[in-house]
Amino acid sequence: MSAVMDVTDSADRRLDTASEHQEVISAIEPAVAENLRLLVPIDKAWQPTDYLPSLEAEAWRDEVERFRTAAETVPDDLLVVLVGDMVTEEALPSYSMALNRLVRDEEGTGPAPWARWLRGWTAEENRHGDLLNAYLRLTGRVHMRAVERTVHGLVTNGFNPQTQGDPYGLLVYTAFQERATRLSHGNVGRFAASHGDPNLARICGVIAGDEARHEAFYTRMMAEVLDHDPAGGILAFRSMLRGRIAMPGRFMDDGRDPNLFDHFAIVAQRTNVYTVRDYAAIIEHLVTAWDIAGRTVTGEAGRAQEELCRQAERHVRLAERTAAALAKQPPRGFSWIRDRKG
Ligand SMILES: [Fe+2]
Ligand SMILES: [Fe+2]
Repeated sequence: MSAVMDVTDSADRRLDTASEHQEVISAIEPAVAENLRLLVPIDKAWQPTDYLPSLEAEAWRDEVERFRTAAETVPDDLLVVLVGDMVTEEALPSYSMALNRLVRDEEGTGPAPWARWLRGWTAEENRHGDLLNAYLRLTGRVHMRAVERTVHGLVTNGFNPQTQGDPYGLLVYTAFQERATRLSHGNVGRFAASHGDPNLARICGVIAGDEARHEAFYTRMMAEVLDHDPAGGILAFRSMLRGRIAMPGRFMDDGRDPNLFDHFAIVAQRTNVYTVRDYAAIIEHLVTAWDIAGRTVTGEAGRAQEELCRQAERHVRLAERTAAALAKQPPRGFSWIRDRKG
């Protein structure tokens, strides 16, 4: 009986905290309005077509041919990482749904700054999956139906940022992920260029540019939260880091490999696109960017502050150990590339 009451109690406390935090989210709306300029006006925005061979041109066959020839230089392991990144981008509906829990745009067309941000961000992000999807399809290098099935599976399985309903946690999570995707797309682009595919390099570069603006937004908004509520913000940051930050594509599913995400993550590690060291470096960056050490807090938040300032070091040590274990993993077949090894 008392255990049941404890559970109810902590659920009540969580609800109280979540609604107090939601008030702060509303209070920082002027900063949201100010930072709407981080979205590019539609008339100036790039579109996937700008980075793809024109199928309307008279010489479309030549354009497609050149595009495919360049794509032949991309090694299979880099292709696997690109597919995983694309699948993650394609699950955008799940992320928009999650963020609307913070934004609370009841109508769907609301004029409030948060609502405008979420729609503009979704529209910009929507091009990422579209462009990567078109690239992969046109190159003929991947088994597109298996890739599509994986996207279908991921959106169906859903997405849980493990924030326990705390809107601060969602901001921490999104700031982290925008930086992670910026790094990942940026690295795929650089490696593609060095292997000989300038088209993929440009594609990943332009997507990474969007992620950088989005990262700036979410990082600034979490800094605003910390200015308003340093103790609440620090506790939320710590509780996000106590679990490992779950990657958005974690529940990807090709109907065949029950550990598909882990296998994709191993290839991302091996190719140096996104590694456990990057994970540690992002945490270190956020602790500095949010000036965690400089915030005046006491009690539990003070202890959380100390813990956070030691986090980066802890994660670097963890990263060294994990990197060594991952390096020993053998290459595996992926349905995405017809069982060639990634
Ligand atoms: Fe994206
Ligand atoms: Fe993003």
